[in-house]
Amino acid sequence: MPKDASGPPRSLLVLGGTSAIGLATARRLIARGARLVHLAGRPSPALEKAAGELTALGAEVRTVPFDALDPESHQASLGPVFAAGDVDLVLLAFGIAGDQARDESRPLDAVRVAQTNYTGAVGAGLLCGAALQEQGHGTLVVLSSAAGVRARRADFIYGSSKAGLDAFAQGLGDALYGTGVRVMVVRPGTVLDPGTPRGDARLTTTPGQVAAAIELGLRRGSETVWVPGGLRLVMSAVRGLPRPLFRRLVV
Ligand SMILES: NC(=O)c1ccc[n+]([C@@H]2O[C@H](COP(=O)([O-])OP(=O)(O)OC[C@H]3O[C@@H](n4cnc5c(N)ncnc54)[C@H](OP(=O)(O)O)[C@@H]3O)[C@@H](O)[C@H]2O)c1
Repeated sequence: MPKDASGPPRSLLVLGGTSAIGLATARRLIARGARLVHLAGRPSPALEKAAGELTALGAEVRTVPFDALDPESHQASLGPVFAAGDVDLVLLAFGIAGDQARDESRPLDAVRVAQTNYTGAVGAGLLCGAALQEQGHGTLVVLSSAAGVRARRADFIYGSSKAGLDAFAQGLGDALYGTGVRVMVVRPGTVLDPGTPRGDARLTTTPGQVAAAIELGLRRGSETVWVPGGLRLVMSAVRGLPRPLFRRLVV
């Protein structure tokens, strides 16, 4: 049965349980009333530490083993989360940037970037989308990237994986339209640690700012969120540049 999901989410599933953006978002949503957080990630002391920090904020936190590179294990990992009760929000926050120079000369490393960011997300995204549809409500928030809008020489392996992810998430959103389940695509620019010199503030952001933008996007029912917001215009101009000019201006 579809239910009114307009209020702030009470239960979260974070895929990429140690992600800086995922944790900043979880902290923010706990402050707004979220009470149950499933932190899915590769088992590690960092995952346990993250769980401890969120528990200290007043949430019940359960860690869930999840490896994006092992899609055949996703049902066994994530199925029990949905079987245990409704999940209001799934945050798909895992991903790796890779090392462009190294990955160009080591194709298997490049494939790992693509498999983590794209095919891992396809498997987990379809599974979570179906589970949300089954419960009749919920939002899937997908961390894409401005880097996916037009792949640059400097990071086209990562950029192309995000382009694929972004297209997939938009399509999944259309497939779920009208079911009570929403997909929100988030496109941050370069995310810097708080305190790092910002450079061009139109292009950079912080995990806390991404979390704030996600919360606002959830309240507004947005389909797409750019962070910072000004990136939308910048990237629309970048998208339209002829390739010779793009090659010269954008590295
Ligand atoms: N940081 C940026 O500048 C930026 C900009 C735009 C978009 N984004 C995207 O936003 C998302 C979150 O970014 P972030 O900065 O918060 O990332 P982060 O702090 O580097 O965290 C990345 C997360 O991905 C997880 N991960 C990597 N490989 C995995 C695998 N095989 N299976 C399961 N989990 C895996 C990591 O888990 P482990 O602890 O196991 O490594 C970690 O939880 C990513 O998709 C990223 O591409 C980031």
